[in-house]
Amino acid sequence: MRENAHFAAIEEARAKLGDRLVILAHHYMNDAVARHADYTGDSLELSRRVPGLDAEYIVFCGVFFMAETAAILTKPGQKVFIPEKNSNCVMSDMAPAWLLPRVLDRLDQAGISALPLTYVNSSAGVKALVGERGGSVCTSANAKTMLAWAMDNGERTLFLPDMRLGSNACDWLDVPRKDRHILNIKKHGDALNTVKAAQAKVLLWPGQCVIHSRFKAEQIAQARRSSPGCLVVVHPECHPSVATQADACGSTSLIITFVAEAPKGSVIYIGTEFNLVARLAHQYRGEKEIHPLYPSTCSNMAKITEEKLAVTLANLDSQPTVEVDDRVRDGARLALERMLEACGR
Ligand code: 13P
Ligand code: SF4
Repeated sequence: MRENAHFAAIEEARAKLGDRLVILAHHYMNDAVARHADYTGDSLELSRRVPGLDAEYIVFCGVFFMAETAAILTKPGQKVFIPEKNSNCVMSDMAPAWLLPRVLDRLDQAGISALPLTYVNSSAGVKALVGERGGSVCTSANAKTMLAWAMDNGERTLFLPDMRLGSNACDWLDVPRKDRHILNIKKHGDALNTVKAAQAKVLLWPGQCVIHSRFKAEQIAQARRSSPGCLVVVHPECHPSVATQADACGSTSLIITFVAEAPKGSVIYIGTEFNLVARLAHQYRGEKEIHPLYPSTCSNMAKITEEKLAVTLANLDSQPTVEVDDRVRDGARLALERMLEACGR
């Protein structure tokens, strides 16, 4: 990869700031950004990393909720930055913090108690409400463990915002279909079917990732027809009909491990964001043949560019930090701490 002016500026800033700076990058970053990271990882790995960091400046290359999660887990005096504040996760926006309490109140009024479990792809405001209600957070790497935790700790679980991840986690735990209910959150929560909700053990918020919704079971069937014996690995934000047809389904880190452990000469189709698939294809070229199940990119992750990283690092002290209001931070931290406690730090 070319070393351009942005590359040089970033490396100069890194050399100047030394241990005072840490750059974290999600696996979906493009190579030009990822090559500058001190640590790359999936959401769980990056969340686990933050409490152990001593750097004064933490620059998070990922979507906004990830930087916000880092800001919740930092120590006093540490500052978190994101090179592009408008890199919103579309799925996280499907569960607005103003709507969750309305839905929970409607359920309460109908005598339906539900312990909320939010996917880490959610705002700090949502995490805070969940934490205040005794609930917790999960990532794609620990959704099965955390759903089991929630089901043990509450009469019923409200899983949000990703109904695909929630359904896949239900499948992994053998929660019968009759015990699941997808909430109707229209009309500001007034359209809930409380009879159906009362009968369910897991209530699913109707959010989804548009990037992972592009993967279809038919693409897997086509891959298997054109490359008999190929392997298929997908992310659990995919529809359950895709997850169940794949050879493996898990977080971005699981996908990386799956590819690393596949025998030499394997043909592997991957159902997740294209930057990660392209990086793996390049890394294993000549050894394993790697294809996207479909070339699907996350336009919000793509908003973090090497140029914006260079601009951020050039003027760190004049850049806005990622801020989380103290009350929100306390509730959100509680929810995240419960996850780190239940899954090992
Ligand atoms: P991971 O949990 O695998 O990091 O995925 C996060 C994400 O946003 C996937 O779309
Ligand atoms: Fe959000 Fe989907 Fe992008 Fe992941 S890939 S950050 S879930 S929109």
